[in-house]
Amino acid sequence: MAETMRALVAGRGPEWVLAEQPIPEPGAGQVLIRNLASATNNADLPMLAEADPTNGGHGREFVAGFEYAGEIAAVGQDSGDWRVGDPVMGTFPSAFAEYLVADHRFVLPRPEGLEPEIACALPTALLTEFGALTVAGFESGQSVLVTGATTGIGMIGVQIAKALGASRIVATTRTSVKRDLLDGLGADTVIVTGEQDLTEAALAATDGKGADVVLDHVAGETFAQCLPATAEDGHAVNIGRLAGPAATIDLDALSYRHLTVHGVSFGFSRGWETVPILEGLHADVLPTIARGEIRPVIDSTVAVSEFQQAADRLRSGDAVGKIVLTFG
Ligand SMILES: NC(=O)c1ccc[n+]([C@@H]2O[C@H](COP(=O)([O-])OP(=O)(O)OC[C@H]3O[C@@H](n4cnc5c(N)ncnc54)[C@H](OP(=O)(O)O)[C@@H]3O)[C@@H](O)[C@H]2O)c1
Repeated sequence: MAETMRALVAGRGPEWVLAEQPIPEPGAGQVLIRNLASATNNADLPMLAEADPTNGGHGREFVAGFEYAGEIAAVGQDSGDWRVGDPVMGTFPSAFAEYLVADHRFVLPRPEGLEPEIACALPTALLTEFGALTVAGFESGQSVLVTGATTGIGMIGVQIAKALGASRIVATTRTSVKRDLLDGLGADTVIVTGEQDLTEAALAATDGKGADVVLDHVAGETFAQCLPATAEDGHAVNIGRLAGPAATIDLDALSYRHLTVHGVSFGFSRGWETVPILEGLHADVLPTIARGEIRPVIDSTVAVSEFQQAADRLRSGDAVGKIVLTFG
């Protein structure tokens, strides 16, 4: 095997740099993954900016990215049942490279027939959205309100809720242009927040009761508007803060409806929380992916040598779905 690999490195300037790096070796509890495709995430750009030494950043170099899909290339000691050649996917730091090492507990099997260029766009969303539903105690037959439902992860949230038997899925977008997209993913009601009152429309869509579970990707005023549209004893989970982290909420809605509010951010340092969610995902959601019931929406796919196109597209805010980098 070669000793070096191509990787997108942050910490040298305002943009990633495609550089030769040593191929990492798996330690105890780790596997080495040969990566065939990666997907970008919202967090990639702020991390790049924070590291930019030409603009006050910390200047510590690191291999960027989180999501990958490929196959096991080597197995460290005490790394479970993984075998060289197993098709895998996952989310772990330093993924924008031809090889990465990952904690074996965070690696997911890649369902048969799911191409790496599609699979790589799933893991962060699967972990986050299934994790949020789990934290909320979601059960089949409950209704779900997804705000910012056209986000890369929100679109997976809609599909997981559908696959797991949600009785009604209410999805929001700011613009009517994306209504058909959400209809196609399985939303029963689409609320266009630029044209409708979110609280009123969500209550109307749930027979006046409100949604049992809210998956909120927007925060700000949107989060506040969700609380009076959450069912008694319901759960509101904040996942993203696209409209900013501050919200003024009506505590009457919280108390009189007996609501529970959660915030989630599933990290690699919190294995005690993340590993059981991945196990549940494995059992309950991977079979639905294998049956083709959940597919990521891909905005665009480029070879890693064209990485600047991917960065520019991500920065534009115009992408609908995931941007994929291939390492073929
Ligand atoms: N908690 C976690 O563990 C976790 C994990 C991953 C991501 N996140 C967070 O989840 C959010 C979504 O991430 P993503 O990568 O999936 O997003 P994304 O695909 O980049 O989302 C783009 C969409 O977000 C909507 N949007 C953008 N700005 C908005 C605003 N100010 N108000 C309302 N909607 C807005 C737009 O949809 P419309 O035009 O249809 O309105 C836009 O098409 C981000 O905040 C991200 O940081 C959290």
